[in-house]
Amino acid sequence: MTLVDTDPRPTAAAPGPAATAAVRTTGLTKTYGGRTVVDALDLEVPAGVVSGFVGPNGAGKTTTIRMLLGLVRPTSGSGTVLGEPLAHPARYLGSVGAMIEGPAFTPALSGRDNLLVLARVGGLPTARVPQVLERVGLGARGDDAFRSYSLGMKQRLGIAAALLPQPRLLVLDEPTNGLDPAGIAQMRELLASFRDEGMTVLVSSHLLAEVEQVADHLVMIRRGRLVFQGSVADLVATQHPRIVLRTERPEDADVLADVAAALDWPATSAGGEVTVPLAAGTPDGEAFARAAELNRRAHGVGVVLTRLELERPTLEDAFFSLTGAGSGDVR
Ligand SMILES: Nc1ncnc2c1ncn2[C@@H]1O[C@H](COP(=O)(O)OP(=O)(O)O)[C@@H](O)[C@H]1O
Ligand SMILES: [Mg+2]
Repeated sequence: MTLVDTDPRPTAAAPGPAATAAVRTTGLTKTYGGRTVVDALDLEVPAGVVSGFVGPNGAGKTTTIRMLLGLVRPTSGSGTVLGEPLAHPARYLGSVGAMIEGPAFTPALSGRDNLLVLARVGGLPTARVPQVLERVGLGARGDDAFRSYSLGMKQRLGIAAALLPQPRLLVLDEPTNGLDPAGIAQMRELLASFRDEGMTVLVSSHLLAEVEQVADHLVMIRRGRLVFQGSVADLVATQHPRIVLRTERPEDADVLADVAAALDWPATSAGGEVTVPLAAGTPDGEAFARAAELNRRAHGVGVVLTRLELERPTLEDAFFSLTGAGSGDVR
């Protein structure tokens, strides 16, 4: 990546959200041999956040990232990174640090020497090397051979390399892939500290659980298409809560489902359990009022309940329902 002389030019005359996106795309598309692997993505990643870019394996995350970094040419669509057009990567790459699919380093060289080579090749000040080693927690291991590093240390050295140009945007492709829980926790802390220093971090993962605790913002894709982007709270709000009831006598479940239907609350009965889905975003108060009404009506028709619960889908549920992850349709 080239370090360009970045004069602080304002990106747009008008302030507001339009000026603050770190990444924005419109209709970003990539086809390989007639197959569309990234399909008309309209992305908007705000500046100054950790954005989790999630979707099952094969969803198109790496291809999207490659297009953002000028490594792959979009088939169609447009966009900006740090306010500069995708069509002119040289204008923004000097302010972007990236690690894609595991960094490539020379095994016999120390972490420090690997970084020194990269700094010299990239025309970056070698004085940055000890700073970035320290920054990723490799200060004490910088003189050990790369091949002696654990996977977590290798990933952190890759991040150190990405930090060399003092980027405003850090793009990390699956940095937690294969790490043990301690390594994932370390990575999370590192990403949060970059955000706290004012960097924007775009971090991909095929596992929501690996990024959900650190992500302020989420972008979810499935089969190349955007299925959600926004805050974690917004994502949870898209999901339908439900009331789940169990009757003392299994044969009463159908009676109870009819009672709910009579109230215009469509219900399903299966295996002695009745489920009443509620609209996405139904507040707790209203949901509890409905649960109480169902209890009253059940009592009225002589049906005794052994279970009455309000279930709210978890973030994981949302991920599975939106992306189809784990359901076998990953391509
Ligand atoms: N250079 C390429 N040529 C043909 N197909 C590709 C190429 N790169 C990626 N693909 C295909 O595009 C799809 C998306 O891949 P990728 O972007 O790597 O997904 P992810 O990173 O989400 O796992 C996959 O089906 C993959 O096989
Ligand atoms: Mg990938």
